Order: sequence, then structure tokens, then C-alpha cells
Amino acid sequence: MNDDHDNEICNKTNNRPFSQILESSASRRKVLAGGLSLAATSFFASSSVFADDWGDDDREKSRHRKKRKLIDFRPVAIEDGSGPWPTISADYEYQMLIPWGDPLEPGGPAFSYPPNAADQTKQIGIGHDGMWYFPIDERRRRFDRDDWYDWDGDDDDWFYLHRRGGRGNRHGMLVINHEFGTNTHVLGKRDPESLDDVRVSQHAHGVSVVEIRKIRGKWRTVKSDNARRIHVNTPVAFSGPAAGHPLLQTANGNVPLGTVNNCSNGHTPWGTYLTCEENFNGYFGASNRDNAWTPTPAQQRYGFSETGFNYGWYNYDRRFDLSDPDYANEENRFGWVVEIDPMDATQKPVKRTALGRFKHEGVALTIGRGKRAVAYMGDDQRFDYIYKFVSADNYRKMLRRGESPLDHGQLYVARFNDDGSGDWLELTIDNPALADVFSDQGEVLTYARMAADILGATPMDRPEWTTVAPNGDVYCTLTNNSRRTEADAANPLAPNADGHIIRWHDSDRHIGTRFDWEIFLISQDTHGTEDTFSDPDGLWADPDGRLFIQTDGGQKDGLNNQMLVADTRTGELRRLFTGVTGDEITGITVTPDRRTMFINTQHPGNGDPSLTNFPAPLDGVTVPRDTTFVITKKDGGIIGS
Ligand code: FEO
Ligand code: CA
Ligand code: CA
Repeated sequence: MNDDHDNEICNKTNNRPFSQILESSASRRKVLAGGLSLAATSFFASSSVFADDWGDDDREKSRHRKKRKLIDFRPVAIEDGSGPWPTISADYEYQMLIPWGDPLEPGGPAFSYPPNAADQTKQIGIGHDGMWYFPIDERRRRFDRDDWYDWDGDDDDWFYLHRRGGRGNRHGMLVINHEFGTNTHVLGKRDPESLDDVRVSQHAHGVSVVEIRKIRGKWRTVKSDNARRIHVNTPVAFSGPAAGHPLLQTANGNVPLGTVNNCSNGHTPWGTYLTCEENFNGYFGASNRDNAWTPTPAQQRYGFSETGFNYGWYNYDRRFDLSDPDYANEENRFGWVVEIDPMDATQKPVKRTALGRFKHEGVALTIGRGKRAVAYMGDDQRFDYIYKFVSADNYRKMLRRGESPLDHGQLYVARFNDDGSGDWLELTIDNPALADVFSDQGEVLTYARMAADILGATPMDRPEWTTVAPNGDVYCTLTNNSRRTEADAANPLAPNADGHIIRWHDSDRHIGTRFDWEIFLISQDTHGTEDTFSDPDGLWADPDGRLFIQTDGGQKDGLNNQMLVADTRTGELRRLFTGVTGDEITGITVTPDRRTMFINTQHPGNGDPSLTNFPAPLDGVTVPRDTTFVITKKDGGIIGS
């Protein structure tokens, strides 16, 4: 979602005085003036300070050297990338799958418009965003996850062994986030008029788990024991340091329900899906029926307001009414990372509080030194932060002890220094500066943004997706920040209308508190070229060193939003796909052999049938529907090649 809701400024702190950064910012731009390839080269050189504790760097580089043509497809030309229908490279083709409102399983309720609340719980939601594909081994039904993922701290520890997918390349569970849908799009009217209308909207949000299979060359949903919808009224559990905390209890003792504004995602080596709650604040509001609501400092820092994003839920569902004292603290139950088992429809989704509460865009999980689980996360708001979580111990040992690696560990926030170094600042109640303000670790985590303010984290230009490349580099999209008036080295444009991509290399195999960083790419520098793009958002690094970049925002030259492929060694860019008028392109996952990729169009035509009727043929009437695309290369090659 790239409208003003993401763009408000909740961070009123000023962690970086302009006077300290102007000079270094200017010199950094000079370094980048040589172009992307120079930036790439200089970064690999600077990364070598960590070469000793990052043994597979050299192996990775030699693997790269053997692959001469990393990107070798005919790009979508600028003049072909606009209009009401998608365009893909001439060397590729796509199929459409699971549009909003389709039944979760064959035989389920068919799409009708507007939907009804009961049907929508058995149908695909709206606002397709982050997703992940979990292969199914038909012989054993369920992969031994350690067979499929090789996160052993060896050459491929960051990614699974793609050679081993077997039949899982044609059969798997797809778990997909449904970030948002406006009332106009979902209900066909601006405001709900009943609790039933609110339920339709609530059930269109959340997550879908579907079983999909390639049958006679086409992917389709199949009957499944594990298919399910998780939405705003699904029972959920809390775990980690803030579970059971008074800040997560309401006066009326209602049980925790639901997840909302599920933006990007992550997945774990133990085979679970992670969904991230982003703009949860927008679903709350204040009716002021019996009490006048005035926001607390914490509610202000998290962007709560009287009308929210105009969903109007609070007028019919007291749970979302900030002025209802019975439901005080309900808002603290959102803004978390939620773990879902894609192979068990009876599992209660778990909110992992150790990862902190903020507007979680996504979570890139990797395995660091000592087999610790490490999660990188962006908080998508203007001037908000980048975070990292490190599990307390070897993730396998923790699982054997019956502990979740996501329940015990350290949460850090990033400070980007002007000299290209960075520090991870721990959000811990053991820090006297935090103990002065917060009473315990549960409170620190619930108000992670405020704790990060105190530590002096670097306010960023809207951190969206993060991804970890095979050499250990971590990339993060900073989508834009039109309100930045003071540049700094890590956010070098003021204003930053079109965004950039930053990357860093952590010390001590992801678990250290120092890192090296570099700007990989500034969107503005692509303008006027055939590879122009703006507002980078979705991001995925593949095992060969390709970076898939998806956009969400106004593109140049009339282009629709798009997906490009970058070579992280050279900075070469190529446009693989363009979407539909008024949409964003988001969500990315592949089969184990990487010969099938899934991506999404979100809010085609911004839900307006006069702009596009996608995926229906143009008729000016039919409501446009968010849809997944299944992408394959015509020669059967790896996606991106
Ligand atoms: Fe849900 Fe920041 O995009
Ligand atoms: Ca966005
Ligand atoms: Ca996004």
C-alpha cells in the first residue's frame, strides 16, 4: 500500500542533526557517481573487512564468476509497460491464479460481488502481498524440513537446496497475505452500514493457506486438509516476553483474535510461515460515544487517530473503538510478526512478541553463527527504523528443547553511521536508558518504536522489504520519503521522491553488533534510462546473486508498476514484468527448482472498474481483483535468467 497512510510521520524525534551529516552525504554521492557497478565493486571490497569471519565469500564469488550471463532475457520495453493488462518478457509467460474471492478449494463458494461475510471466510482474501510456497512431497506428504532447507551454516545455509524439490516443484501449499482492501473496493461503498458489512471487510483481510498443484500444465487449487483462512476474527495466541503482559490485556478480558494489514512475510527453516502486521493503526478509530478519546503518547507514536483509514469498523465493532474502555489495549495486540504452520489447519497462529511491535513490513530470516536464527525487519513509515532479532541459542537445540527460536533472543535497531559503518543497538530493559522509561522487557517490546527513539536509531526513508543474499549481504528497500528535508548518508536525498536500496554486511555472521553498509542503488539514477523505476518495495535475492525488485508507486514514462531483475555484482537491471493500471506488484516466491515463480498484482486499478477490470476482459464495470501470477520461462530456465 503506497498512499498517505504509510506516509504519515509518527516519529517526532530528531536522531540525526543535519549539521553532522551534510558533508559525508555529499561525499557518498560522489562515490556513487561512478555508477552502480562501481558501487557494487566498492562494497564487495569494503565487505572484505569481514572476510575472515565469513568463510564462504570466496566460494560465492567463484560461483558468480562461472556464471557469465546471470540475466539473459528480453526486457519489457517502456512503451509496452502501461495499460490495463500485464506484460511479461517475450521469453516468459504467465498464468493467473487465486484472484480475490475465488474459493479456497474446488467446490467452495464462488466469487460474488459484493461478497458476503460467511462466503469470504472460505474464499481468497483481497490485497495480495507477501507469500511463500511450501513444497509437498507426495510420497511422504510432508517434507522433512531439514532435507529441503539447508540452513546448516555451510555454503547454502541461507537458502534451501533447490535441487531437492522433486515432486514439490509441482505441488505445494501457498500461504499468502491479504494486506488491505478499501471499503469502496470490497463493499462497493465508502462506509460500512452494519456489523455484517464490517465482517465482510474483516474477512477479506488476513491470510489464505491454499494447496496448489500443477495439473496438465496449469496450476490450480485442489482439495486440502490444510487449506484455511486466517482473518481479523480468527483466534490467535501470544508468546515471548510480552505474552500475558498487562499491556496486552483488555478490561473485559476478551480473548486475542485476528491479524490485520498483513504486508510482507518471512519463512523459517523449521517450515513455518511468518506474516507481518503493518498499518494496523488504520483499522482503529474512536466513536467517542460514551467517552472522549484522547491519544496517549504511545498511540500517537503508532499513528492512531479518530477516524483511522476510514474503514469505520469502530462504529459497529467495539473491539476497534479506541474510546471504549472495555477494549483499552486491544490496539497493542496488533503490530507483531505472526507464525503460521502451513501444514496444520488446526494450529493457532502465534504472535511472536520477541520480534517487537511496530509496522512490520516483512521479515528476512537467515541462520547466523552458532546456528542462531536471525531476522531482519523494516518498519515502514517515514523516519522509522530497521531492526534485527537474534535467537538466544542454536535454533535446532531450541526446537529440541521445545522452545521457539523466535521467543528468546535479542532485538536490535540499526544506527547507520556516516562513515559506512553501522551499529545494532539492543532494545533491552537491562539498558538503564530504557529502564528509566519502561518497567520491563514486555513494555520495551510493545513500544519498540519508542525504545528505539531513545537509543538513537537512524530514521530511514520508509524501510520496506529485506532479503539476505547468498554472500550474507542484506538488502533493504527504502521506498521513498517526500517529507525528508535533511539528507543523511544512509538517506542521501532530501526529499527522496523515488526511493533507494541499501545493503549491509553484518559482523560475526549476522549475530554481531557492527555492520558495514553501502547504498546499492538510487531509483532516481535510473530515470531517463530504459530501466527506469521508482519506489522499490518487494525484494528477493536468489541463490545466484540476482535481486528481484518490485515497485509500488508512480513510475516514470507512464509505466505500470513492475518487477525488475538486478545483478548484484554489476548493478545491471532488466525489466521482467509490468502490471496493471493503478496496481502495485508485490509478493515473491518460487518452487524449489526456481523454474516457477509466484508474484501478485495488488489493488489493480485501485479497485476502480473504470480503470481496469482485470482479470476480467475490459468492460468498464466488473470489479478488478487482486490476483497471483505464476511465471515460467518458455525454455524452462531458472526465473530471472
Ligand atoms: Fe505494505 Fe509498506 O507496504
Ligand atoms: Ca509500498
Ligand atoms: Ca510493501
